[in-house]
Amino acid sequence: MTALPLRLAVLISGRGTNLQTILDAITYSQLAARVMLVISNRPEAAGLAVARATGAPVAVVDHREYPGRESFEHGLSAHIDAAAVDLIVLAGFMRVLTADFVQRYQGRLLNIHPSLLPAFGGLDTHARALAASAREHGASVHFVTAAVDGGPVIAQTRVPVLAEDVPDSLARRVLEAEHRLYPLVLGWFCEGRVALERDTVYLDGLPLAAPVQFAYEAQRE
Ligand code: GRF
Repeated sequence: MTALPLRLAVLISGRGTNLQTILDAITYSQLAARVMLVISNRPEAAGLAVARATGAPVAVVDHREYPGRESFEHGLSAHIDAAAVDLIVLAGFMRVLTADFVQRYQGRLLNIHPSLLPAFGGLDTHARALAASAREHGASVHFVTAAVDGGPVIAQTRVPVLAEDVPDSLARRVLEAEHRLYPLVLGWFCEGRVALERDTVYLDGLPLAAPVQFAYEAQRE
């Protein structure tokens, strides 16, 4: 049984809207967690201001100041371990992590990706979904493994692609879906309901044969 509230480190590279929704969910008691640390690999990331506004401790670990991936990750681990976190939440963190780093935090490392994985791993997912004439797109929360965007998926929200969609309009709806999905899945983790055993996700003690699926609901104006 996990002791509440769960201690989180959130890793970002950019604007930090997912970070904001996580902090909001904590503020409004929808998530029994504490953000112990926000780490950005980019000193100019707008998400740092999001963190500072709520008083969350921040650290910048700028990958450009390290000679290589491993030394950069040592820098990350030093901060993460000093904060004694239970869970590392990747929220728009744009660096590929080595197998060593991922193994060190196996089962305690989550990511959100803007597609219905395994479709459209990598970048520019919205434009690629449109180019492929996909009828559905969406967001996935998954455990991180050494395979980029390839770890076991816990849950996904399916977002319909509309005839008039351009990458920006589709991205907006997917982001809205992300903002609901991530705090929800983090809540499962905080309640000790979700875990990774070898390559299998367990929810409420049972192996998940397939990711939990949610349908997109448009936000009320
Ligand atoms: C999100 O679309 C997330 O799925 C992807 O990067 C983006 C981050 O956005 N991994 P934000 O920084 O949380 O606004």
